[in-house]
Amino acid sequence: MTDRTGKPFLYVVVCAAGIADGVGTLIAAARDRGWEVGVIATPAATNGFFDLAAAERLTGRTVRSAWRTPRDPRPFPPPDAVVVAPATFNTVNKWAAGIADTLAVGTLCEALGLGVPIVVLPRVGEALAAHPAYGESVARLTALGVRFGEGGGDGGFPWESALDLLEPPPR
Ligand SMILES: Cc1cc2nc3c(=O)[nH]c(=O)nc-3n(C[C@H](O)[C@H](O)[C@H](O)COP(=O)(O)O)c2cc1C
Repeated sequence: MTDRTGKPFLYVVVCAAGIADGVGTLIAAARDRGWEVGVIATPAATNGFFDLAAAERLTGRTVRSAWRTPRDPRPFPPPDAVVVAPATFNTVNKWAAGIADTLAVGTLCEALGLGVPIVVLPRVGEALAAHPAYGESVARLTALGVRFGEGGGDGGFPWESALDLLEPPPR
């Protein structure tokens, strides 16, 4: 599936981790590699975690975080692939458990059911990662084909590695 530009469409799901303010790096790199990009933020992530206006300028589209009303058309085309970056402890656990209480998690649950390629760069500190629910969530999603990259630690965040983990964009 491609959008009206003829390019494959990538959903970038942004969660409320401190590192989220660098997501413009991922959006710009994805566009350089031929993806059209739409950003879906968790409601918490829209609360000062990244520059929404900058993301809208880079993508040319509204950042979504709430469900449309039944009368509104779908704002984004269906995804060819999804990147979750940064992924929080909260969103990974809710996604694995099927608790679709945000547009972001609902979208991830649907993408999983549709077999859309999904790459995750988690940003989860050691203390939260030690909680038993987290390992079980990652194992469950991995068994279903979700690809987890490395996003932990205190250093920089490997935004572009998410794109390397995706298959080449469909033509
Ligand atoms: C400044 C700040 C930085 C945070 N960084 C992280 C983080 O790196 N990883 C994480 O899992 N949660 C982090 N949190 C906590 C999440 O924001 C919180 O769990 C929130 O409920 C996540 O919501 P979401 O998963 O819907 O985005 C941070 C919170 C604040 C205030």
